[in-house]
Amino acid sequence: MTASYHDIDGKSVLVTGGASGIGASIVRAFCAQGAHVGFFDIDDDAAQSLIDEIRGEHGVTPVYKSLDLRDQAAIPGAVREVSAAIGVIDILVNNAARDDRHAPEDIGPEQWRDGLDVNLSHHFFCAKAVAPGMKEKGAGSIINFSSVSYMMGLPDLVTYETAKAGIIGLTRALARDWSHDGIRVNAVTPGCIMTQRQLDLWITPEDEERIQEQQCVKRRLVGDDVAQMVLFLASDVSSACSSQNFIVDGGIV
Ligand SMILES: NC(=O)c1ccc[n+]([C@@H]2O[C@H](COP(=O)([O-])OP(=O)(O)OC[C@H]3O[C@@H](n4cnc5c(N)ncnc54)[C@H](O)[C@@H]3O)[C@@H](O)[C@H]2O)c1
Repeated sequence: MTASYHDIDGKSVLVTGGASGIGASIVRAFCAQGAHVGFFDIDDDAAQSLIDEIRGEHGVTPVYKSLDLRDQAAIPGAVREVSAAIGVIDILVNNAARDDRHAPEDIGPEQWRDGLDVNLSHHFFCAKAVAPGMKEKGAGSIINFSSVSYMMGLPDLVTYETAKAGIIGLTRALARDWSHDGIRVNAVTPGCIMTQRQLDLWITPEDEERIQEQQCVKRRLVGDDVAQMVLFLASDVSSACSSQNFIVDGGIV
């Protein structure tokens, strides 16, 4: 089920990690609303499949830029490139992440930095790159992605959970610093969303049964459940919301 947000029609939207999982649901959802959508990812094959699917379904072509978001120096140029194609960015969705598992004992300085680079730092550098255009327009919505994993204390995710907790601080700091520029900054915190990667790598049928037992909402949560919250935060219907965290977890925490 979806709502139509007329103010999103024609807006320029940048989604990080948009080729698969929740990010792909977000790209689909914005295309369906009539937005001009660009996305970053490293998975070129998945990106091409998504573009083909959306072109077939909606007759529009989202703009893809292959980018490893750990390369912070490359972010401003990549944002300029996508903006040249779709227009000055109105809405940024910082979605990309990688939930690798490591025991704390196995993490050295390099892995620690990589964990924060892939899960946290690009949120800041993408926000910094789109902010001047938003300031000039006097409006913008930035949506960062956290995770219930740090609230639940799930095992072997120390760099990921540290980053995801940091994203809440980042969200509140930027919301305050840019509050005079008309830029709203919020976080979305998904629960256990059954993306392909989760089902392939981590979640067994028994796990899923246990998860639904723990949720107040007794069904499988999917990428589109999260995309609907992102649309709400992108639209002016949420114009009173900034500096907050919106949990989409079926009530598991
Ligand atoms: N799926 C869940 O249950 C869940 C739960 C809590 C939070 N989240 C959060 O939701 C967001 C999306 O999660 P998901 O489950 O869809 O993840 P996913 O792994 O299915 O997709 C992540 C996307 O980011 C891309 N990506 C990874 N590293 C990248 C890099 N260095 N540069 C560019 N792109 C890169 C991947 O190629 C992929 O397309 C993430 O921020 C994640 O932490 C997901």
